[in-house]
Amino acid sequence: MSQEQTTPTAPVRVTMEKLVNLCKRRGLIFPSSDIYGGLGSTWDYGPLGVELKRNVKEAWWREMVQRRADVVGIDAAILMHPRTWEASGHLQNFTDPLVDCKSCQQRFRADQVGARCPACGGELTAARQFNLMFKTFMGPVEDTASTVYLRPETAQGIFVNFANIVDTQRVKLPLGIAQIGKSFRNEITPGNFVFRTREFEQMEMEFFIKPDPAQEAQWFDYWLEQRFSWYLNFGLRPDHLRRRPHGADELSHYSRGTTDIEYLYPFGWGELEGVAKRGSFDLDRHAEMSGHDLSYFDEESRSRFRPWVIEPAAGVDRALLAFLLDAYDEDVMDNEERIVLRLDPRLAPVKVAVFPLLRKGGMPEKAQAIYQAMQRRFNAAYDQAGSIGRRYRRQDEVGTPFCVTVDHQSLADDTVTLRARDSAQQERVHVGALGEEIARRIGWER
Ligand code: GAP
Repeated sequence: MSQEQTTPTAPVRVTMEKLVNLCKRRGLIFPSSDIYGGLGSTWDYGPLGVELKRNVKEAWWREMVQRRADVVGIDAAILMHPRTWEASGHLQNFTDPLVDCKSCQQRFRADQVGARCPACGGELTAARQFNLMFKTFMGPVEDTASTVYLRPETAQGIFVNFANIVDTQRVKLPLGIAQIGKSFRNEITPGNFVFRTREFEQMEMEFFIKPDPAQEAQWFDYWLEQRFSWYLNFGLRPDHLRRRPHGADELSHYSRGTTDIEYLYPFGWGELEGVAKRGSFDLDRHAEMSGHDLSYFDEESRSRFRPWVIEPAAGVDRALLAFLLDAYDEDVMDNEERIVLRLDPRLAPVKVAVFPLLRKGGMPEKAQAIYQAMQRRFNAAYDQAGSIGRRYRRQDEVGTPFCVTVDHQSLADDTVTLRARDSAQQERVHVGALGEEIARRIGWER
């Protein structure tokens, strides 16, 4: 089979609009409740998007939990006892300053507008604090006694389980407890695609250490570096990443020091992940509110204390958005422009697509058999519609790292062509060796 020719071009920076369109057109991310005109800033992950999202979470979980002896995972409920939020300070402090326009009634974050309404130029009210937690009722009675909140961070599910973990797991400090799950914030101004939404997923880890400033400084630097290199390792460009320490005036109510890992989105630098020193703030408050002893007995020093915490807190959707933005590229192949998502193969929604060169001569049957064998190991696709070039382009556009084509020669010698997405290079591989070869090139060590 003839090889395609790529013409090298400079990396392309995609606009948000173009990415949103590609995501919709190819079933990565759809506007939520689309047939009703959408629901402001909520998004649904489609068949390819859900695979990408699962892979992002899997990449984090493997690195942060499964490959470490000092971290365990949990999956806590979204609805928590309402006193949790009193203890954590969220009822009192998890607020943004809100202003209303007296003419058009639109609402804005006071820190994002000037003296007049940005929509109509009208007069603005004085700022008041607006709590970002979503409220609902538990059970059939709707009164203040039955009010519960949708969690605004997954972290509290970890703090309230600290004693359960220590009592049941034969663990000792330093100890990390990790969780991935949905969080909800009634953001005043959501936007920029999945960057800021009201329902999103977090990947958080609370790392409990001895209450000692030197250890705190050491572990803080360690986790900041670990997390920074995780993004590089999965394909973000170094010049699109930076660390930004918070000023004293912007620290969260629980933090003794925070550094954000920021990414250069098309709309400018924005937070990707925050690494915070939470001290013993949360355990202290929960011990006080619940009356439970949340201290830890340290065998080594024969002393009892409430541990301090370092917290790397990431967003699944923001990480996914950054991976998509940096993966997007356009180049020229066989004198034809193509869109290619150069996603790390470990993150790619589909790992391998299988094609029969022609829809006859036994090729579809052989390709189907190979497709089924691939499906047992990877998320795979089968496509026999259109020219082979078009089929390659369809897969390039969604980041599929490998395409396998069954041609005339395959029927004679049981080999196929294996084509790599980025270089478009093809080589012949024996069908029996295909699974191993693709697994090796994807790079997941199972
Ligand atoms: N437990 C600490 C905490 O929640 P945060 O900086 O408020 O810290 C952590 O959130 C991460 O969660 C952020 O870095 C971001 O990736 C993600 N995140 C926060 N709010 C979000 C929103 N409205 N939409 C999408 N992701 C969000």
